[in-house]
Amino acid sequence: MEVAALVALTLLLGALVGLVALAVGRRKEEIREEAEQAAEFAAEASVVKGTAPKKQKQEKQRSRKDKATQHTFSHPLLASSLKAHSGNVTCLDFSSNGKYLASCADDRTVRIWSTKDFLDREHKCLRANVDLDDATLVRFSPDSRAFITWLANGDAIRIFKMIKKDDGTLTFKAAPEDFPQKHKAPILNIGIAETGKFIMSASVDTSILIWDLKGEVLASINTNQINNSYAAVSPCGRFVASCGFTPDVKVWEVCFGKGGEFKEVARAFDLKGHSAGVHSFAFSNDSHRMVTVSKDGTWKLWNTNVEYKKQQDPYLLKTVPCVSSEGSLTALSPDGRVVAISDGCNLAMYNAASGKLEEEMHGVHSGAINDLRFDVNGRFLVCSGDKAIRVFHNAPGYRAAISDMQDMLKKAQNEAMKQRLQQQIHDAQSALDTVLAAPVD
Ligand SMILES: *[C@@H]1O[C@H](CO)[C@@H](O)[C@H](O)[C@H]1NC(C)=O
Ligand SMILES: *[C@@H]1O[C@H](CO)[C@@H](O)[C@H](O)[C@H]1NC(C)=O
Ligand SMILES: *[C@@H]1O[C@H](CO)[C@@H](O)[C@H](O)[C@H]1NC(C)=O
Repeated sequence: MEVAALVALTLLLGALVGLVALAVGRRKEEIREEAEQAAEFAAEASVVKGTAPKKQKQEKQRSRKDKATQHTFSHPLLASSLKAHSGNVTCLDFSSNGKYLASCADDRTVRIWSTKDFLDREHKCLRANVDLDDATLVRFSPDSRAFITWLANGDAIRIFKMIKKDDGTLTFKAAPEDFPQKHKAPILNIGIAETGKFIMSASVDTSILIWDLKGEVLASINTNQINNSYAAVSPCGRFVASCGFTPDVKVWEVCFGKGGEFKEVARAFDLKGHSAGVHSFAFSNDSHRMVTVSKDGTWKLWNTNVEYKKQQDPYLLKTVPCVSSEGSLTALSPDGRVVAISDGCNLAMYNAASGKLEEEMHGVHSGAINDLRFDVNGRFLVCSGDKAIRVFHNAPGYRAAISDMQDMLKKAQNEAMKQRLQQQIHDAQSALDTVLAAPVD
């Protein structure tokens, strides 16, 4: 992958928030971080080397068999396919420092991938073993140094710490005790607030539990939505939201006192407008926007940056027809410019402002897409639905950023500003062309 193109693309997404000036000063820090991360991911190499020869042979035979039955998929926006799991991947999460992608599968492992090498041929990952169980859900802690998992058999939350050894490699250690079993129905989702103050778990009945980090239940919410199809913690860590059989999306604030002690869970606001049940929803990274996808055959974009305590309601920005079905998921790029919707094993990407359908991907996985999210910089969209993880370039996001810069260019007053914008637009466009022209295996 051409480094220049990569840098230009990263700058493009940052350009509108003034990252350009910082970029040069950042280089040194970046080099240090890269070296650190290379050391962390050196561990997998030693794991592979240490494998007994007999087992390797078995694995080779198995992988040959796998290849024969493997689902093939190609698309111009496909940046890479991450393959290491021997079972179906069930959940994905990016760390908030942007360095890692976690995935879990029904092969008793959680894998931690380095986001730096998404565009390389080889994709390094570290393996955390889930003893005698499968993790079905995984979420990073806010400091990116631990993750929580949901155990398929244990029916409970297990915390894993990511520990840096003296030689710089990362290793994983499960907390001595799992959280107690409390849910009475299959689990839908788990989350940790970015504030580090609580953990959430939600099941398909109408129950959401709020936990402290030690595994004590702080509160139990009955969503009263007949059944739940999705629930999540907002990226700002203030809110918990749920949707289900009823057409509304409900949002609560999890309130803490000045001393950090838990106070209460309070109703914050509802998103009302769909005419049928809501399959799922997503937030922008500052929690100021939400997108919802419903059985009524539309997705809706909402402005949720309101003072609900002063009786302000969130308001609807956009309603766009789309194909959806039971289990449809949605993702909103961090900057709110792109909406992604899944429908079975198909994927669609829309410009959030215009509602225009920009990209369609069919048969992305052999099974239905079961997780979908943008990376923290909005460069990639990733999804799972079989053993592989697909990583797509967020080309609609780049195009939207370029078009925003073109609007700024029209309004620009002084010559220096105009020239800078023209240069940035040119660089961004050629970087995008380069990335899209790069072949993927
Ligand atoms: C939710 O409840 C409705 C109505 O009772 C039912 O038709 C639907 O299948 C339920 N969905 C799930 C996922 O349980
Ligand atoms: C993995 O997913 C594929 C596609 O949905 C499915 O055919 C297969 O049965 C799944 N394997 C397991 C072990 O669940
Ligand atoms: C959200 O994402 C945008 C674009 O990537 C970034 O500039 C901004 O700093 C992020 N904000 C938060 C709160 O993470």
